[in-house]
Amino acid sequence: MPVVALIGAQWGDEGKGHLVDLLANKARLVIRYGGGNNAGHTVVNHLGTFKLHLVPSGIFDPGIVNVIASGVVIDPEALIKEIAGLEASGVSTAKLFVSERAHVVMPYHMLLDQLQEDARGIGKIGTTGRGIGPAYADKMSRTGIRIGDLLHEETLLNRLTAVLEEKNRVLTRLYNVKPISLHDTYLRYLEFGRQLAEHITDVHPIIHRALEKDLPVLLEGAQGTLLDIDHGTYPYVTSSPPGAAGACQGAGIGPTQLDSVIGVFKAYTTRVGEGPFPTEIDGPDADILRQIGTPWAEVGVTTGRLRRVGWFDAVLARYATQINGIDTVAITKLDVLDTAPTIKICTGYQLHETQLDYPPATVAVLGQVEPIYEEMPGWMTPTTHVRHFHDLPDAAQAYVSRLCQLIGARLGIVSVGPDREQTIIAAEVF
Ligand code: IMP
Repeated sequence: MPVVALIGAQWGDEGKGHLVDLLANKARLVIRYGGGNNAGHTVVNHLGTFKLHLVPSGIFDPGIVNVIASGVVIDPEALIKEIAGLEASGVSTAKLFVSERAHVVMPYHMLLDQLQEDARGIGKIGTTGRGIGPAYADKMSRTGIRIGDLLHEETLLNRLTAVLEEKNRVLTRLYNVKPISLHDTYLRYLEFGRQLAEHITDVHPIIHRALEKDLPVLLEGAQGTLLDIDHGTYPYVTSSPPGAAGACQGAGIGPTQLDSVIGVFKAYTTRVGEGPFPTEIDGPDADILRQIGTPWAEVGVTTGRLRRVGWFDAVLARYATQINGIDTVAITKLDVLDTAPTIKICTGYQLHETQLDYPPATVAVLGQVEPIYEEMPGWMTPTTHVRHFHDLPDAAQAYVSRLCQLIGARLGIVSVGPDREQTIIAAEVF
């Protein structure tokens, strides 16, 4: 049975939640492997519309085990709220397991995220302000607090005492803000631990028993490859590895155990936050892509920020395929292009006298490239009702086929609307 990683292949917001919800039906185990509540997945299904930030999208099927794995950083208050919201809508979270190895996003992480952003001034990254960068930084500095620590009074007190001493020195002396109370934070996070205790466990045996039994496993990505800490548009990136390698690391499975990597690409490109975006556009074409006022509106699920929009960038798409070993392509939001008379695809970059077919590593250089476009005719016909690839208008089929050719992997799925049913399965993916 397959172990499949579904990963974002652009700058996040590719519509992964929608696809995980669809594919989760076939899985017995869904694992969220990285990132934190900087992610936001909108899932529309028979139970309603849900915005998930930490809970894996397999949660809607009571037969599926859902794991928040060790690579995730967790704001316990946000997770408790998300669980309560799901339960209130009749969604059981009994089979949600949280790795005791996952790190906690603490109040000083959120505070420092905002203070550091302010201090960056015009060089700001445009973070989601959820404390993600500082939490991962502490994990790497070995000063982090893990979810499992919230269940052990003495461990929590000892770790928090040591960490807060340093954080408070930074907060008061460098940023001139009030210190964080050890007493209040300790009691608050102990209480969060109590509330989450039934979910917190060692997820290693759960994951590896499923692999030994050959059960179908879905690794659910958050963020996108171009936000990768190593391979993204640094420093305008998140602080984790959101791709296929990160899936293995975050979930604690070996790379040879992955059977397939599905790369999720929007039929165009969007980005939130700062950083270079070679195919970014404005004007009437951008309005078509933005879809303001529709369920597809390009507004961040987590932050409510308007997303920047642009044409499909095949240079970056090919790069994402190489980084992740993508073998199957999911194209989302094809219907957004239903009213575009002409559609552009960036197939290369012009950098002064040189043509490039890969993205320069330095953002200052990436910011200087001029996209080389090829144009394809639009189809100017609604596609939201289409369920089979060959029922798409010819021009839409040609567009999707061209994208797959440029990406360098086979087509698996096309989505033509936000509902689970508005999906075209072009090839067996799971
Ligand atoms: P952080 O992850 O909050 O530190 O933000 C770093 C960068 O990643 C910013 O540009 C964010 O807008 C971006 N980012 C983080 N999470 C997401 C996501 O789920 N979708 C899209 N962009 C994201």
